[in-house]
Amino acid sequence: MISNTMEKALNEQINKEMYSAYLYLSMSAHSTHSGLDGFANWFMVQYKEEMEHAMRLYSYLQDQGSKVQLKKIDEPLSTFKDPMDMFQKTLEHEKFITKSINDLMDLAIKEKDHATQIFLQWFVTEQIEEEANDNEIIGKLRLVGDKGNGMFMIDKELSQRTFTSELPSK
Ligand code: FEO
Repeated sequence: MISNTMEKALNEQINKEMYSAYLYLSMSAHSTHSGLDGFANWFMVQYKEEMEHAMRLYSYLQDQGSKVQLKKIDEPLSTFKDPMDMFQKTLEHEKFITKSINDLMDLAIKEKDHATQIFLQWFVTEQIEEEANDNEIIGKLRLVGDKGNGMFMIDKELSQRTFTSELPSK
């Protein structure tokens, strides 16, 4: 059993994860339109991961006997200057999500809600990885600048990313 305040906060986090998925799906579409199929693949995998983040929260609320309350998802950005612009916006967004997860953890600690603290641990760790991935790709993009062959190599590398479900099986 979790508090009403926690229930509301976790439902808001579902919305943020769904928005993240929507944002990365938009970036995937933009990449395809720009002829960058590797980038499109990377963002498509990211979209799928974000949907799973939302579903983790969804299942947790249900396991706790709480109500899932889905809200309107905002329209994501749809135009981007170049791949660097997309990854800088991705990193900026992930920092916002990290803060949101930290705020949830603060609330769980304040409420002495041990179950939710344990549940949120996974998200705390995941956010470190998400920001690290974005920083790594931004570093590579900075190295190649506007050199076409460098961009071609990064696009090829990002085409290798595959999606593996990490949802706990029930
Ligand atoms: Fe679910 Fe990228 O944070």
